[in-house]
Amino acid sequence: MHYIRTFRPGAIGATLLAVAALAASTAGAETVMITGANSGIGLEFAKEYAARGDAVIVTHRRRETPQTLAELAAKYPGKVRIEHLDVTSVDEAHALAAKLAGVPIDVLINNAGVYNSRTGCAADDDECPGDWSVENFGKMDYRLLDTIMAVNIKGPLLVSEAFYPNVKASVQKKIIAVSSSNGTLTGEARPRPGAIFYRMSKAALNREMQIVAASTKADGVTVLMLNPGPTLTEHQEYLSKYKGMLRTDFTVGNMIRTIDKATLVDTGRFLRYDGASEPW
Ligand SMILES: NC(=O)c1ccc[n+]([C@@H]2O[C@H](COP(=O)([O-])OP(=O)(O)OC[C@H]3O[C@@H](n4cnc5c(N)ncnc54)[C@H](OP(=O)(O)O)[C@@H]3O)[C@@H](O)[C@H]2O)c1
Repeated sequence: MHYIRTFRPGAIGATLLAVAALAASTAGAETVMITGANSGIGLEFAKEYAARGDAVIVTHRRRETPQTLAELAAKYPGKVRIEHLDVTSVDEAHALAAKLAGVPIDVLINNAGVYNSRTGCAADDDECPGDWSVENFGKMDYRLLDTIMAVNIKGPLLVSEAFYPNVKASVQKKIIAVSSSNGTLTGEARPRPGAIFYRMSKAALNREMQIVAASTKADGVTVLMLNPGPTLTEHQEYLSKYKGMLRTDFTVGNMIRTIDKATLVDTGRFLRYDGASEPW
C-alpha cells in the first residue's frame, strides 16, 4: 500500500466527474511525460499510453538506462523517448526543459516518489519491501525525511514549473501529481501511527498542487492530484496477501480514464483513481 488503507468504493464523485466529462473531450493524450517511469505505477502509465499510440517521454534517475524502459522503447519505435531526470535536481530539470523546448506536453505526470528506506535493498531486488520502521515516531532516520521531502514535495513542484511552457503549448494542458490517501488530514476517523515522513509529504504535495492549480487556471491548465489506491507494484508484491490490494493495470487504467475525462472545472481536485473525490 504503502501503508494499507481501507478500500472505499465511492460513487458520487465518480458520477459528478462522469457528468462533467460528457461535455469534455475524451480524446487521448498526444504527448505524455512521466517521471520515475522505470518501475511500478510510472512504468504501467508508460506502457498503457504507448500501447494506445501516444508519444511518451519516460524519465528515470538511474545511471544506466533501465532495462524496463529500453524494452518499452524497442517495442514502440519512435514513440518512446527516454530521458534522464532526477526530480530533485534543479539543474537537471532546467537542462532537460531546455532540451525539450518547443515540445508540447499534453499530460505531465509527476509520478516519482519515495515512501520508505530502500538502503537495505539491492538495486536489482524489485521484491525487496524496503524499511518502514525508520519513519516511526521514536525511530526516525532524518536522512530519509530529507530524501522524501526532496522527491515527493520539491520534485513535483520543480518539474511542473520547469516544463510548464511545454504543458501550456499543448492541446490538453494537464499536470498530474500522483498523491496518496496517506496524505489526508480529514479522511481518517482515527489517525494511525507510522509512515510519518511519507504521509506528511503527500499532505504537502496536495497543498502545493492545489496552489499550482490556482496559479495556472487562467492559462487553461488542469491540475489533478490522484490517489492510485493500494497498488500491487513490484515493490509491494509482499502485500499480495492483503485483500484490498489492486492490480497495477487496474489502478493505472482507471487513472488514465480519469485524466482523459478531466477538464478545467476539475482543476485542484484530489481524486481517487476512478474519479471519485477523495477527502483531504
Ligand atoms: N503503489 C501504491 O500502492 C501507491 C499508493 C499511493 C501512491 N503511490 C504513489 O505512486 C507513485 C509511484 O509509486 P510506485 O508504487 O510505483 O513505486 P516505485 O515502483 O518505487 O516507483 C517510484 C519511482 O520513483 C522513482 N524515483 C525515486 N526517486 C527519484 C528521483 N529522485 N528522481 C526521479 N525518480 C525517482 C523511482 O526510481 P528508482 O527505481 O531509481 O528508485 C521509481 O521509478 C509514488 O508517488 C507513490 O507515492 C503509490
